Amino acid sequence: MAEIVLGFGTSHGPLLATPPEEWDLRGAVDRKNTELAWRDRTYDYPALAQARGATFAPMNAGDVRAERFARCQRSLDELGQVFEAAKPDALLIVGDDHHEWFMADIQPAFSIFHGDTLLNRALTREEMARQESSGLKYAAQIYYPVQDETYACPSALASHLVRSAMTDGFDVTSCAQQPADAGVPRRLGHSFGFIYRRILRSRPPLIPVMVNTYYPPNQPSPKRCFEFGRALGRAIRNWPGGERIAVAASGGMTHFVVDEEMDHRLLDAMAKRDYDRLVSEPDIHFRSGTSEIKNWIVVAGILAETELRMNLLDYAACYRTEAGTGSGMGFAVWS
Ligand SMILES: [Fe+2]
Repeated sequence: MAEIVLGFGTSHGPLLATPPEEWDLRGAVDRKNTELAWRDRTYDYPALAQARGATFAPMNAGDVRAERFARCQRSLDELGQVFEAAKPDALLIVGDDHHEWFMADIQPAFSIFHGDTLLNRALTREEMARQESSGLKYAAQIYYPVQDETYACPSALASHLVRSAMTDGFDVTSCAQQPADAGVPRRLGHSFGFIYRRILRSRPPLIPVMVNTYYPPNQPSPKRCFEFGRALGRAIRNWPGGERIAVAASGGMTHFVVDEEMDHRLLDAMAKRDYDRLVSEPDIHFRSGTSEIKNWIVVAGILAETELRMNLLDYAACYRTEAGTGSGMGFAVWS
């Protein structure tokens, strides 16, 4: 029986790499965004500022931003230490794809990679130029490797996860080969790459579990995500190998419109193992980047029937405009 020895959750986002005095780079993108999702409605920037009362100017002061940025860096460093101390044999990351592996032609709700190796390739010069023109110059420095890296994938265990989840009623997309265009492998998603580039010091074997949290119309509901996680937890326990597995959730919390109340509500439900409350959050609240909290819900499901308990390392609301856009940054360990 494989054993889950550690869980962790981490936000990933450009602000985690961008110097606080340059957070306006991303703020400028928010100001042009006409589809800012907040609670059950969608706003353009002026309408959002009006709806929220535009009371977030003090949270954008340089010293506030700097303090929150520093706290995030401490939490990321701590996650790295905790992971290396646990020395797991493999890492299962639950993340969403951001049109990196999957494009508009096919977008699986749940998919698991179970090939033998994964290439995490460095950006080409053209790809880097595109990142820079979208205000993601700094993000690229924590999302992608400097040079190509190849990770082993425990393929027998990963294909067991697919089979077992299928038996449990989840029609998981099977992905045995990295997608490629004209022979060039597509980029490993930044949900996964971020954890290797910014958090881990070692290069453990990886099982990527991809959840379409983001793109309509086939995003799984919070309840479905939780139950999928429970099915993966059962599958890991049923696996006859003796591997020690770590699991991680990548992404979230609320962004690009920060909703501290929602973040605390969901983090608290996970810490207290109040799963009814966790999955009763209305699905419409999980849109845009905020949808990535569903990756945490999958991980909460994986860990629900283990002895591991969630400890919130920190939560820092990082604001980049006076209308309250930015990212709620959460960091947690289940141990
Ligand atoms: Fe993301």
